[in-house]
Amino acid sequence: MTAALYRLVYMSRNDITDEIDTQIDDILETSRENNRLAEVTGALMFNTGCFAQVLEGPHNAIQTTFERIQCDERHSDVTVLLFEPSDKRAFSNWAMAYIGTQTACIERFGNIGTDSGFEFSAIDGERIYEVLRENLREAESV
Ligand SMILES: Cc1cc2nc3c(=O)[nH]c(=O)nc-3n(C[C@H](O)[C@H](O)[C@H](O)COP(=O)(O)O)c2cc1C
Repeated sequence: MTAALYRLVYMSRNDITDEIDTQIDDILETSRENNRLAEVTGALMFNTGCFAQVLEGPHNAIQTTFERIQCDERHSDVTVLLFEPSDKRAFSNWAMAYIGTQTACIERFGNIGTDSGFEFSAIDGERIYEVLRENLREAESV
């Protein structure tokens, strides 16, 4: 029997002060290596000083991965927006997709941020999840 799937969405404040591209590359490389082994998939978005990330996979794997992520000094104010069982993976082909550079995503994400006054507790995790999912679909179809 395969383990039940869960989905976690969080946001955090980006504390990277220099060499942002190198740091993002490093985060993605480590994430993809670890997540593949742990059967975690997901997407990471970086924009206007914030990260948003979706993690999906077995409960234990999400928990262990997220505990490591929370301790990372490259971000702070890590706030869980959604953690719930899920029927299937939305990012099944991605150990960690990066969708930080797509204009449409940045615009939609920016609106969510502005609407909420960048107050994480006022942000709807489901909306963040949908923005990341839609933009991945657009990226895949290019
Ligand atoms: C915004 C952000 C997202 C991250 N996402 C992941 C992730 O999905 N998986 C992961 O293993 N590490 C992720 N990391 C890195 C972890 O915080 C940590 O540095 C890493 O897991 C340590 O791995 P290691 O023990 O193999 O060096 C992320 C870090 C940041 C700042």
